[in-house]
Amino acid sequence: ESAFTSQRGSAAGTPPMSVKGIGNKVAKPDYSESKIVVAMVGLPARGKSYLSNKLMIYLKALKVFNVGQLRRTRAKAKAQRGIKEEHNSNWFSHANEQGNYSREELAHDSLEMLIQWLKEGGNVGIHDATNSTRMRRGSIEARVSQEPGFHLIFLESCCDDPAIIATNVALKVSSGDPDYKDMPPEEAKRDFLRRISEYEKVYETITEPHLSYVKIVNVGAQVTVSRIHGYLQSRIAFYLMNLHLKPRSIYLSRHGESQFNVQGKIGGDSLLSPRGMQYAAALPALIIENVGDAPLTVWTSTLRRTIQTAEQLPYPKLTWKSLDELDAGVCDGMTYEQAYPDDYANRDDDKFNYRYRGGESYRDVVVRLEPVIMELERQENILIIGHQAILRCLYAYFHHLPQADLPYLKIPLHTVIKLTPKAYGCDEERYALPIEAVDTHRPKPKGPAVKVKHTTARQYFTPEGEV
Ligand code: F6P
Repeated sequence: ESAFTSQRGSAAGTPPMSVKGIGNKVAKPDYSESKIVVAMVGLPARGKSYLSNKLMIYLKALKVFNVGQLRRTRAKAKAQRGIKEEHNSNWFSHANEQGNYSREELAHDSLEMLIQWLKEGGNVGIHDATNSTRMRRGSIEARVSQEPGFHLIFLESCCDDPAIIATNVALKVSSGDPDYKDMPPEEAKRDFLRRISEYEKVYETITEPHLSYVKIVNVGAQVTVSRIHGYLQSRIAFYLMNLHLKPRSIYLSRHGESQFNVQGKIGGDSLLSPRGMQYAAALPALIIENVGDAPLTVWTSTLRRTIQTAEQLPYPKLTWKSLDELDAGVCDGMTYEQAYPDDYANRDDDKFNYRYRGGESYRDVVVRLEPVIMELERQENILIIGHQAILRCLYAYFHHLPQADLPYLKIPLHTVIKLTPKAYGCDEERYALPIEAVDTHRPKPKGPAVKVKHTTARQYFTPEGEV
């Protein structure tokens, strides 16, 4: 399960079924009635895989069925049997009958795998292919309509901005893409551009009025939404309406070392330590050098240590309550040693789901960060001056990391993490400033933690659906 998942709703527009919790554990929301096929539409290099991957990270119980990957897997298997199949631009020509046949077969088989996966319990399956003709869309529609309760949405990515296309083309041929890994980059580029022009000859943008679709033009410059119904479908549409592919970076930094950090205390609203103040003074030069003339906005929490860290940064600033550190409830202001041993045993047993008495769990934080994530998707260069738990959640979202690992991620003090979203993930650079700071990371305990029964903890438990 991805660390950053949606929490509520079903395709039918009803709240989630049977969301129950036992003790401090929270059961998964049940989307069992949602069966949605999202079929991508668009020419190559229009960011379809990027959109599919983002949706996969954002939504739970979602899987991408990439037709290109299936093609490569099968070609590899054939090659092992001595049958060599070259997938250069000729193979993609609509005049190539054998190529046409094989491509239709791959799209069909991929859809069958997707449908099977939905029948086995999945909720949203993405058919990641060009699906760029009316005929292909018609056959997808005919097949999905045979499955009772299944819904079909097309997601078209149109792009005529040469700069965006050029970036995507460059990415395809330079990022070790399996199709081109054995070809010199110039030759790969020529072949890929020819492939695109083969698709252009037969491409038909969605105009079928009866279809449910979201059409995104130039990565968010214009978005058309048609016949989208129900909770989960609307969520998908809303999320997509906020995405963009413009080059930008997201910078994450914890506040400078705080007085509480030095004392080993958790939570609170203390000011910076002298070393923390040094970090606040050194941060502007690092950011200015990195960002250059590009615009940037700084987001902080409402806690003094983040505001103080951001003080000398010459950029517009925004304060978010949702960025405040995980609320440690009755343990706020204590050291880990002082904090209740029972709580700690239980927390280590399942740190993601453990909710502090009178406070929050990491799962709660993930939910409260949703508006921040949505806004981050809409914005360009952002620097977040945040807290350990908060930045773990944001980092896990951008890197698609599992829930169990999230609460143990290393987000050291006095370090700027630069994330640059790309079509196939996120590039990362880390800049550690040479200003010493305490290490607040607590490693995951080895072996199974001793689980302590703690009845009072339950009084504070709220089932997830009622958060
Ligand atoms: O120790 C610094 C801190 O930001 C605390 O305020 C917070 O409770 C803690 O980190 C969160 O990290 P963990 O979940 O590992 O205790």
